[in-house]
Amino acid sequence: MCGIVGYTGHREAYPVIIKGLKRLEYRGYDSSGVALLNNGQLKVFRKKGKVAELEESVIGKDLQSHIGIGHTRWATHGEPSDRNAHPHQSQSGELAMIHNGIIENYTQIKQELLSKGYHFKSDTDTEVLLNFIEDIKKNNDCGLEEALRIALKRVVGAYCILLISNDDPDTIIAARKGSPLVIGIGKGEHFLASDASPIIEYTKEVVYVNDYEIAIVRPDELILKNLGNEKQTPFITKLDMELAAIEKGGYDHFMLKEIHEQPEAIFDCLRGRLLTQTGQIKMAGIENNLDAFINAPRIIIVACGTSWHAGLIAEYLIEELCRIPVEVEYASEFRYRNPVIHKGDVIIAISQSGETADTLVALESAKEKGAFIFGVVNAVGSSIARLSHAGAYTHSGPEIGVASTKAFTGQLAVLTMMALKIGYAKGAIKQPRYLQLMQDLEAVPEKVREILQDTSHIQRMAAKYKDATDFLFLGRGYNFPVALEGALKLKEISYIHAEGYPAAEMKHGPIALVDEKLPVVFVATKDSYYQKIVSNVQEIRARKGKVIAVATAGDMVIPGMSDDVMFVPDADEAIAPMLSVIPLQLLSYYTGLAKGLDVDKPRNLAKSVTVE
Ligand code: G6P
Repeated sequence: MCGIVGYTGHREAYPVIIKGLKRLEYRGYDSSGVALLNNGQLKVFRKKGKVAELEESVIGKDLQSHIGIGHTRWATHGEPSDRNAHPHQSQSGELAMIHNGIIENYTQIKQELLSKGYHFKSDTDTEVLLNFIEDIKKNNDCGLEEALRIALKRVVGAYCILLISNDDPDTIIAARKGSPLVIGIGKGEHFLASDASPIIEYTKEVVYVNDYEIAIVRPDELILKNLGNEKQTPFITKLDMELAAIEKGGYDHFMLKEIHEQPEAIFDCLRGRLLTQTGQIKMAGIENNLDAFINAPRIIIVACGTSWHAGLIAEYLIEELCRIPVEVEYASEFRYRNPVIHKGDVIIAISQSGETADTLVALESAKEKGAFIFGVVNAVGSSIARLSHAGAYTHSGPEIGVASTKAFTGQLAVLTMMALKIGYAKGAIKQPRYLQLMQDLEAVPEKVREILQDTSHIQRMAAKYKDATDFLFLGRGYNFPVALEGALKLKEISYIHAEGYPAAEMKHGPIALVDEKLPVVFVATKDSYYQKIVSNVQEIRARKGKVIAVATAGDMVIPGMSDDVMFVPDADEAIAPMLSVIPLQLLSYYTGLAKGLDVDKPRNLAKSVTVE
């Protein structure tokens, strides 16, 4: 939520910042802005809307500067507007600041400042924090760094902030708690950003700033301190990412590119881990903690959004293959309902970004209660990855499209390997099925490639159904979470109301919605529920609903009962979700496209939700 960029060095700051903001737009695009410092003069430009609109609004303006900060916003406090856009300036005009996060006690601080005569030009919590810092600086007659430190001790909430001041011509002061911050180290220059994507083209050496750290960043110097003013040694990491991975590479949209990247992404996830020849699964995070998993009285999966759907599939996998009870929790609910966590319980956190605030905070409290945390994360070095005791990266590569696609199938690949490895080690799964499932898993990249070979029929279907006002997605067993994911994707990208439901449970409510206008998508591949789902299709047809099916190639029955079909190759039911979800991703992509919508940046959404 909200992307931040900062630069100090020998280059022109504005182009670096604008390019960086475009890369971070997946984090929010309600408004954007930059603050540039030149010869002690602070210039701030802000604009409602996407970064391109900001760019247009500054044409002809003097943008010369070698230091600056920029922000792309996902609104929390105050509507999306020019005046609520970041950077904000302090009352004196001397300081400019950008912020990602939420200051929870801002109303109280605002009251104090109002009584001292401060005025506010925006509705944001950020402007309150900024003036609070300025007020401390004035009253304590101290430097900006010290004022920031004092202010942060009073703040409740999450933040990553960057601050510049017109009396310090080349310094950016940054601080983080709960929201991510990466600093890129160049020669005589430093780059600051919410993730590495704005930095990668300039340097691969980065420092991930930790919670409760303050960074003082100058062209030739990076000082890290804790809130107690003690210097910390910056830990330099080398980025393992190429620029091409975060560009569109000839596709019209990141979402389409990422859908098509799935064969390679799943392959990369399996590579070196799934050793079918020797019947081994190599996952150090599991191997080193095998006893914890085998003896776990219960596994609790914590996630949000699409990652939560991957968690639901993992519940089926782990219960079937490992015979360990699993609960799947929405992170936001898990945290606040004071859950019972027993000694020995294992928590699996699933997150693409590794920065989702609800998941992060849920894990922090579970960790405090002594739980063992295993992270299934895509973003290397992210907060959730670092907070986990152990984990397995999905290696799906950067996912930029706001709607998650390749990260989901990557999560399923990791979770399937985990379930197989633990189940086999525990003796809950016999060797023939273990080896069979390994082979089926190995075949997934090729089967996904097959599905992606010709998608023109899905594009035609999208054009046919694009004006529907509602959709129902139904599935049973492993395909039930796929139905949920199909509905979520369609909602996100096409703004069509869609509900996912267990196919049988549909009779207890949603069936009342069925008429000749309602498209009902059945995820009806050949599995142990197949006969039952055939009956459910009949129930919809009897009420004149339009039936769209995801069916197994070669099946004659389901296609004969459907208005439209999307085929996927045959696979074991435990593996099938990685295939059956692909046509649904494409259906939502092409529906959004047919409706002329911005599929990479759907309204109101953000890829990385770093507020609770
Ligand atoms: C947002 C994104 C979703 C994502 C969810 C969880 O809602 O738009 O695509 O599934 O956050 O994100 P995470 O990074 O934790 O997987």
